[in-house]
Amino acid sequence: MRAAALAPDPGNWVDLDGNALDAWLTDRYALEGDRWLRLNMVTALGGEISGPSGTSEELAGGIDRPLLRVLRASGDVVLVGAASIRAGGYPLPRLAPLAVATTTGDLSGHALPAGTTPERLLVLCPPSAAARATATLGGIGTVLPLHGDPVADPALLLDALAAHGRSRIVCEGGGGIASRLFAAGLVDEFDQSIAPIVSSPGAPLTAGTVPLVSGRLRGLLRDGTDRLYARWTFPTRLR
Ligand SMILES: NC(=O)c1ccc[n+]([C@@H]2O[C@H](COP(=O)([O-])OP(=O)(O)OC[C@H]3O[C@@H](n4cnc5c(N)ncnc54)[C@H](OP(=O)(O)O)[C@@H]3O)[C@@H](O)[C@H]2O)c1
Repeated sequence: MRAAALAPDPGNWVDLDGNALDAWLTDRYALEGDRWLRLNMVTALGGEISGPSGTSEELAGGIDRPLLRVLRASGDVVLVGAASIRAGGYPLPRLAPLAVATTTGDLSGHALPAGTTPERLLVLCPPSAAARATATLGGIGTVLPLHGDPVADPALLLDALAAHGRSRIVCEGGGGIASRLFAAGLVDEFDQSIAPIVSSPGAPLTAGTVPLVSGRLRGLLRDGTDRLYARWTFPTRLR
């Protein structure tokens, strides 16, 4: 797969696959510190996060799957919103556990493997939603109860994961949880894979009220399919 760095230092095209591509990406996406949240999502040119199928499948391509793998490996846990799990077919990370945020505990429609061990799947929900989460998951996973309202205070999600020894968080969306995290000032870095695609309607990256916040470009890659891969950092962590 052909790829080149455009920023911070423009580089020559490289042609890499497999472990060599992973190592090249790992270098370019290193993130310092032991307590951070990076959001990794693919978007169309208009910011849509899903295509005609209702998933991000049509937006995917180029080096974004290798990058997803590398970013997953950079953290202690992968965080997603419940709607993404309810849509089915969400792939479990190979190394880090998957944490699902839900207020309702309704995870029906999930297609997670029945043999998923308790440490591979964490459910973050209020105690009142725990029984429903366990039932709709068919008994798999570990519930981490949240004491408070995680919609009003999304930092509760991060605190629960930290208490579980998981402070380097890779959130993969969707837009509902991404918006809450942005609005609460909890996104340290937005790793945006930009597909050269115009399509609507599609699920939006942000929904509801997200106060204006400006990011800074930390890195930009391009690949042979004309996808761009931006690292946007957000300076203030408000929690
Ligand atoms: N392009 C990409 O990279 C990408 C990545 C992932 C998903 N997607 C797409 O995104 C779409 C789904 O996105 P979405 O915006 O509808 O939903 P989402 O963000 O996946 O999930 C929203 C749900 O997450 C839970 N949630 C959100 N914030 C929470 C908080 N602070 N505390 C506790 N729970 C919280 C709630 O679950 P309850 O309703 O259970 O309370 C909420 O309804 C799908 O089309 C999917 O294919 C795209």
